[in-house]
Amino acid sequence: MNRLSEYMLPPAKSVTAETTDALFTFINNTSLILLAGITVAIIYFSWKYRRRSDDDVTPVISHNNKLEITWSVIPLILVLIVFSWGFSGYMDLRTAPDDAYEVKVIAKSWLWEFHYENGYVSVNELHVPAERPVKLVMRSDDVLHSFYVPDYRVKMDVLPNRYTSLWFQTNEPGESIIHCTEYCGRNHSNMNATVFAHSQEDFETWLETAASADDDMDPVERGEMLITRNACDTCHSADGTRLVGPTFEGLWMSEREMEDGEIVTADENYIRESILDPNARITAGYDPVMPSYQGSLSDSQIDAIIEYLKTLQ
Ligand code: CUA
Repeated sequence: MNRLSEYMLPPAKSVTAETTDALFTFINNTSLILLAGITVAIIYFSWKYRRRSDDDVTPVISHNNKLEITWSVIPLILVLIVFSWGFSGYMDLRTAPDDAYEVKVIAKSWLWEFHYENGYVSVNELHVPAERPVKLVMRSDDVLHSFYVPDYRVKMDVLPNRYTSLWFQTNEPGESIIHCTEYCGRNHSNMNATVFAHSQEDFETWLETAASADDDMDPVERGEMLITRNACDTCHSADGTRLVGPTFEGLWMSEREMEDGEIVTADENYIRESILDPNARITAGYDPVMPSYQGSLSDSQIDAIIEYLKTLQ
């Protein structure tokens, strides 16, 4: 890859990235050559045909076949090259290999959920095997989002009421950033995640142990870890700061006024309901924007979160 694309693009870490970068570089270099040629021609002709005396008269030129064919055929050839190159790359990107490892992705305002074959769900962390194609089948729970991994050069819109998919293969174990690239509301710019590519063996170990990895933790520590891991802290602070949702500080056992005037005590049942069915009751002064964690948090994880919230008095 030449210097220009190294300067302009992040490291290419997927098997399809080289093709994408090569086309990008071709379009860029061609544009630069054309820009330079046109600029030189403008300067040269302005000088060559400058007015020398008052008798200068421009001859009437109706057409010039040679010139017209040249300026039609050269761009046509360039466009056809870009089209066929782009089309074949596009088809490769759209067609996932049959043996691809599948992960289901659910976008919610404002987090990413990744569902694996064994039922495990991770939030804002996508774990994949390296040296194997991975296919993501994606949908949104609410508004339009877009899944983008710059290092892999893959991007796809994620929509409510319909599935979209993309695939990639990375041969280097490591981490890459995931961005949401469709404006989806207040916390759009924080809707980031990380993809962790593991060797096949490490990936299998991770998948086997991930679900039970936090079972033995101290409940308060586990609750705090779950708050971070599930991106709750994107919208709820632990220190009284008002974010998108109410702060966790002083929440436990407080009397809360709901949007409809109802007064509720923030006990175990209220917290559990707020996690699993967040729109059942809305705290006065806040918007009903929280996604449900039904299916992604177990009962014992919710218990741990409650234990942690009790400590934030
Ligand atoms: Cu989700 Cu922007």
